[in-house]
Amino acid sequence: MIVTEANRIANIKEYYFVKKLQQVRQMQSDGLDVINFGIGSPDLSPPNEVLKALTEASERNIDGYQPYTGRKELREAMVQWYRRTYGVSLQSDTDILPLMGSKEGIMHLSMAFLNEGDQVLIPNPAYPAYTSVSKIVGADIVYYELSDETNWYPDLEALAKQDLTKVKMMWVNYPHMPTGTPPKKEVFEKLVAFAKEKEILICHDNPYSLVLNKQQPLSIFSVDGAFDVAVELNSLSKSHNMAGWRVGMLAGHKSYIQSALKVKSNMDSGMYYGIQHAAIQALQTEETWHIQRNEIYTQRKKLVYKLLDILDCTYNQEQVGMFVWAKPKKQRDISQWLDQLLEQKHIFITPGKIFGSNGEDYIRLSLCVDKENIQKAIDRF
Ligand SMILES: Cc1ncc(COP(=O)(O)O)c(C=O)c1O
Repeated sequence: MIVTEANRIANIKEYYFVKKLQQVRQMQSDGLDVINFGIGSPDLSPPNEVLKALTEASERNIDGYQPYTGRKELREAMVQWYRRTYGVSLQSDTDILPLMGSKEGIMHLSMAFLNEGDQVLIPNPAYPAYTSVSKIVGADIVYYELSDETNWYPDLEALAKQDLTKVKMMWVNYPHMPTGTPPKKEVFEKLVAFAKEKEILICHDNPYSLVLNKQQPLSIFSVDGAFDVAVELNSLSKSHNMAGWRVGMLAGHKSYIQSALKVKSNMDSGMYYGIQHAAIQALQTEETWHIQRNEIYTQRKKLVYKLLDILDCTYNQEQVGMFVWAKPKKQRDISQWLDQLLEQKHIFITPGKIFGSNGEDYIRLSLCVDKENIQKAIDRF
């Protein structure tokens, strides 16, 4: 190539799954029956009413550009969903911004708040996009350690002893991916106090709050004063089986929302009307639908535990969300072992190290595999 790429992406790796899933697809097209525990893309359908709403809306021939801030009725549906789900009050005109999936919000927030050389706190382990996007915007990453010893919660006292004068933003995510650690109000309270003292913007990423969560779903805004120092990303991808539809939202104080909107409105030109219309329907989904979805995941999880027992792994049964995080008892080169499992048993499992160095001794299995296939994986041993 005669043109070199920009410095800002020089040390960004292609997303792990892009390459690995190519290999899985190649194996499948070679006729191998690969069971894929890798990616968290729901295989179940959204509620029927949502599908109907999309069909209905598509017949209305509303094909023009849509508002950058989403339609008013969508913002209102989001605000009502926040009230019902989390007991949190937001203003539909100012405090909520519909997004095309929450992943794009990671970029908007980073572009809106991080200058080159600013520091950003990122959990280790974590969703890899926080790191990649921070690198793209030229921010300096400071990882904060999460580990088994602290039950995968941050040690804020230890963190407060570090020099944090250059830190502007902190990524937080509970229920935590990949470890399945549930949110705790007390942890959120400490985080908000910490952020106030250190003048840091907390970006709480909350896409898993409705999946296998045994407690009342929690928003960071359930903590008094959080509105001053925190924003929250949310998503219908996992909670409503709508990953491919790309519907998410950013909630927070209007000044933070306005900054994110400055970026977003220069990056896209709104979300298709039909998807907004169907998302409104999704946000009104009855509790019974969520219970049924969780029942399916619960049954799958039991089978995944069986598989993990065969693989001689330990795992915490209090985990929530759409994955199971597990630790092989035997010390081994995990990537090599998982490559062997893929080649010999045609089972694909994600190595924990892709989420950060603290994930090195772990593996992650997605629950987006039906019972028959999990059983098939078990039968291969
Ligand atoms: C922690 C976390 N945040 C954000 C996302 C992005 O979700 P979406 O862009 O589909 O809303 C994911 C997806 O896997 C995730 O695991």
